[in-house]
Amino acid sequence: MKVNGEIHEIELEPRVSLLDALREHLSLTGTKKGCDQGTCGACTVWVDDRRVLACLTLAVACEDHEVSTVEGLADGGDLHPLQSAFIERDAFQCGYCTSGQLMSAVALLKEGNATTDEEIAEHMSGNLCRCAAYPNIRAAVRDIRDADPATSGRA
Ligand code: FES
Ligand code: FES
Repeated sequence: MKVNGEIHEIELEPRVSLLDALREHLSLTGTKKGCDQGTCGACTVWVDDRRVLACLTLAVACEDHEVSTVEGLADGGDLHPLQSAFIERDAFQCGYCTSGQLMSAVALLKEGNATTDEEIAEHMSGNLCRCAAYPNIRAAVRDIRDADPATSGRA
């Protein structure tokens, strides 16, 4: 399986979820397990640049695909612009939902689905935040959208 540009060879039972493969077998614990049943969005990652819920995705189905996780967002020591915006906007409290929010938000910026607050809210409706940081999350997304749309596409 290719994760964040790196090939990993692991043997898994067919029933293992992508989420468990990432966290338990590859020690990529940035992707969080909230509900483990597809309702919270904490486990959002990309498979071939499409947002998926890792808890509902079988790892074996990703064998010939590119998986991207929050660990791959930064460019070495440089945070992704949206990660910086989250810090500047205080877009989290406990932080448990944050990696999923980031993966979802970067994707929606790339998709061009961040033109209004309503659109941002709609396209991120699968990412729940128990701390209700939604206004600050939307502000961070707006900052990146308004600053330089080109940077929003950086993975
Ligand atoms: S852990 Fe996957 S949606 Fe909640
Ligand atoms: S910051 Fe706590 S759940 Fe979102």
